[in-house]
Amino acid sequence: MNRNKIIAALLLLAGAYLVSPAQERDYAIVVHGGAGTIAGLEADTARAAAFHAALDSALMIGNDILSAGGEGEKAVVAVISYLEDNPLFNAGKGATVAAEGTFELDAAIMLGRDLSAGAVAGVKTVKHPIRAAYAVITSSPHVMLSGAGAERFAAGQGLEIVDNMYFATPRTMRWVEEFKAESGKNGTVGCVVRDRQGNLVAGTSTGGMLKKKWGRIGDTPVIGAGTYADNHSCAVSCTGHGEYFIRHAVAYNLCARYRHLRETVEEAADYIIHHELNAREGNGGLIAVDKDGHIAMPFNSDGMFRGFLYREKGARTVVKATGIGKEMIP
Ligand code: GLY
Repeated sequence: MNRNKIIAALLLLAGAYLVSPAQERDYAIVVHGGAGTIAGLEADTARAAAFHAALDSALMIGNDILSAGGEGEKAVVAVISYLEDNPLFNAGKGATVAAEGTFELDAAIMLGRDLSAGAVAGVKTVKHPIRAAYAVITSSPHVMLSGAGAERFAAGQGLEIVDNMYFATPRTMRWVEEFKAESGKNGTVGCVVRDRQGNLVAGTSTGGMLKKKWGRIGDTPVIGAGTYADNHSCAVSCTGHGEYFIRHAVAYNLCARYRHLRETVEEAADYIIHHELNAREGNGGLIAVDKDGHIAMPFNSDGMFRGFLYREKGARTVVKATGIGKEMIP
């Protein structure tokens, strides 16, 4: 080895030591319930407590699966199915309404170990769109199914089919009225995990934007925009004004920055949310976990419903917190 090669090798070793991340985590899970304007919510203690409780329950559903060595996809589907059943969020029951007064739902899931991905878009009768998205991976040769075809596929998979009005509740309609005065695009749900085998999985589910027209589809089911996972980098789930998240390919963009620019997951996430997106138009946030279990949860809006839970290798207890505004509550 000549002198230059030896110096280069020493520099590489020193670099690896200096940027060596904190201890690898056994497993980690991050959830979001949408980003946007949360004016008055933190002061409404009963309602804020309901959001914290829902996020905490979602984390514990994931924890039960991951701590037992379960696969990341099982945790993501279970967590998002729970959030789809909870009318607090703009996904499944509780989804926002399209301009025609219908409920049109999108969801996606991606597995980082082999880049397999499944998505459904614009479905009106599938009770748990995330389960249909996962079935696209396990039972079809495709990545994204839409509309009536996706509904026929879901029914053929034995998934629960409901009337479109199932998604409406008196509470949903009140919630929609409140958001009419606000940004009108809050409440998408998402979950990213790093399981004990080191596999990354990302999932996202939404009712989309209030009063959306013409079969509009947002970023959620677009692989690389609202949802992405790659075991070499990160798992990412986004929430916010979908058109901008599609234009900036936010979820893939984060993974590419992490992998090719060697930014940490926090650096990559912060750059995209705070510098690349225009906070006025591309309002929203994301959750991400990297291949070592480190997490990021930035948002450029007033708040983001979010929570994380992880366990360090060798530890007996988990670290857990949920947040609505800037603060996290352990
Ligand atoms: N981010 C969800 C949507 O724009 O539909």
